[in-house]
Amino acid sequence: MRLIFLGPPGAGKGTLAPAVAEEYGIPQISTGDIFRKAVKNQTRLGLQVAAIMERGDLVPDELTTSLVKERLAEQDAAGGFILDGFPRTIPQAEALSGIQEIDAVINFQAGDEVVIRRLSGRQVCRACGAIYHVANMPPKRDGICDRCEGELYTRDDDKTEAITKRLEVYKAQTEPLIQYYEKLRLLRNIEAGQDVETSLRQIRLVLTAGER
Ligand code: AP5
Repeated sequence: MRLIFLGPPGAGKGTLAPAVAEEYGIPQISTGDIFRKAVKNQTRLGLQVAAIMERGDLVPDELTTSLVKERLAEQDAAGGFILDGFPRTIPQAEALSGIQEIDAVINFQAGDEVVIRRLSGRQVCRACGAIYHVANMPPKRDGICDRCEGELYTRDDDKTEAITKRLEVYKAQTEPLIQYYEKLRLLRNIEAGQDVETSLRQIRLVLTAGER
């Protein structure tokens, strides 16, 4: 299954992707995670993208697309994948269409109020990347990852100013992809403002319906 997870920041793409990836036996490819790892390790790529990400802007298309192209060529993506956070612009989608066929685009529908509430309380494990929320999905012990005991932190781009910027960028540059994929009959909408299990059920449902 070759899937794209599309939706506003904080809609729950990164929370649901691991479960869907496990069910289908495919890798989750998150461009945001790739960039954050590069920033953490202070690689050349990381130094290039750190300031862009912190203020909530998008990394240039060419850089992002060539990185995804390389990642998709890896062996584990041969049988399918979830692209989480890519494409995010029409040029990225057009570039992807020359690289890979896609089976479905899951569109996470969530209003501003929901995503602002979610992003404002998000915490992420520094070691394994597990995602928590101070109110919705708190860890068992404050500040400590349930899975690996790593330290939880707040992403630099989850500060109020960057959240506002990311929502603006989403509306201007990413939202047009909804129509783009609708025209290609690949779009599958889910109501992402619900709890995790309900959202997962919806994803299973829209993917099964697409197979008929
Ligand atoms: P990226 O990491 O992709 O960030 P994003 O798209 O803004 O998405 P998020 O990770 O913020 O949200 P999410 O939908 O995964 O929500 P999550 O599951 O964490 O990108 C970061 C940056 O990298 C970009 O700004 C850009 O600079 C750069 N970048 C990345 N890709 C790029 C590209 N293609 N082109 C150019 N630049 C790119 O959930 C959020 C919170 O809600 C969590 O606290 C979670 O616990 C909670 N939650 C989730 N689901 C539920 C639920 N069902 N019920 C209750 N709470 C929930």
